[in-house]
Amino acid sequence: MLETYPHTESFSSQILHWYDEHARDLPWRVSPELRKSGMKPDPYRVWLSEIMLQQTTIPHATRYFLEFTRRWRNVHELAAADRDEIMAAWAGLGYYSRARNLHACAQLVSEMGGFPEAAQDLQKLPGIGPYTSGAIAAIAFDEPVAAVDGNVERVVTRFHAIAAPLPSIKKDIKAIVEEWVPRDRPGDFAQAMMDLGATICTPRSPSCMTCPVAEACVARLKDTQGSFPVKAAKTQKPKRRGTAYIVVRDGRLLAEKRPDTGLLAGMLGLPTTEWTTNSDKLASDPASGTPIGSIQHVFTHFSLTLDAVIADDADVQNPVWVPIKDWKKAGFPSVFQKIIGLYLKTEDEDPKLI
Ligand code: ADE
Repeated sequence: MLETYPHTESFSSQILHWYDEHARDLPWRVSPELRKSGMKPDPYRVWLSEIMLQQTTIPHATRYFLEFTRRWRNVHELAAADRDEIMAAWAGLGYYSRARNLHACAQLVSEMGGFPEAAQDLQKLPGIGPYTSGAIAAIAFDEPVAAVDGNVERVVTRFHAIAAPLPSIKKDIKAIVEEWVPRDRPGDFAQAMMDLGATICTPRSPSCMTCPVAEACVARLKDTQGSFPVKAAKTQKPKRRGTAYIVVRDGRLLAEKRPDTGLLAGMLGLPTTEWTTNSDKLASDPASGTPIGSIQHVFTHFSLTLDAVIADDADVQNPVWVPIKDWKKAGFPSVFQKIIGLYLKTEDEDPKLI
């Protein structure tokens, strides 16, 4: 266990006091004022927002959240929705396994008649890990558990000036936050920590002047805020390369519904070669057609260079012809949106290539 100072009582009450004044107005959130008067958040909205906010920003996720809750007003409607419609509505949020898990989770929860309330039970559902289960249990059901994401890790490592690197100290940080959770307002405390990390204790240039716990923050006292959290050296992602084919006939673009398993499963894609590691024969495997450039895209486990080639035809398993003018609505994942963008730019700038 790391050595830290016992700030439990004052830390929570200062954070909560600050939250009462400065809580952000978010569409899935019940304000601290309404929460005190007995209004409870809708677990469906809390769950949906947390899944969307895994690795994306609030402004980006908000648009999707409003659209999802307009179309599918509760977990039963989402459970009954068409998988492909959910996948298309998710396009642009990335990490498509999340959309599949979202639907699978909605179906389980709908069958159960509602969300389980304990973090331990929530964590058994698809797409819900340690952070998300803590966040939902605390926010929606006021279970006194810790919800520790990157923002909260930054707050804690600065507050105690913890020099050991992440991720090795994740468990210690969780234990520290668990001590801080006030029994009477776990949900507001979880959201206060998130807001503090996002608006005050920011990665660069934190606003210590307006921080409610600045006086006891060790990094602030030593003026070393920028040194935390300490991170273990990152290993570089492996690189892969492939070719995407752009086949256009009568104003329609050849696409395919990707297989139900693997990367971007079930999404709409362009025809491509396999994506091989750079050391493979790929570079010496010229694709037939007119090359128009390449795009880069970073996935969780590798970085991809995808060469774009205009071709007369391409092999696809499940062809779908998408009218070019509708390409934005079709639900292509970002990696293919980049290729189509490249094609349309080429068409504008160098029409004789096309
Ligand atoms: N980031 C992730 N979940 C959040 C929430 N519920 N409120 C604010 N920021 C968040």
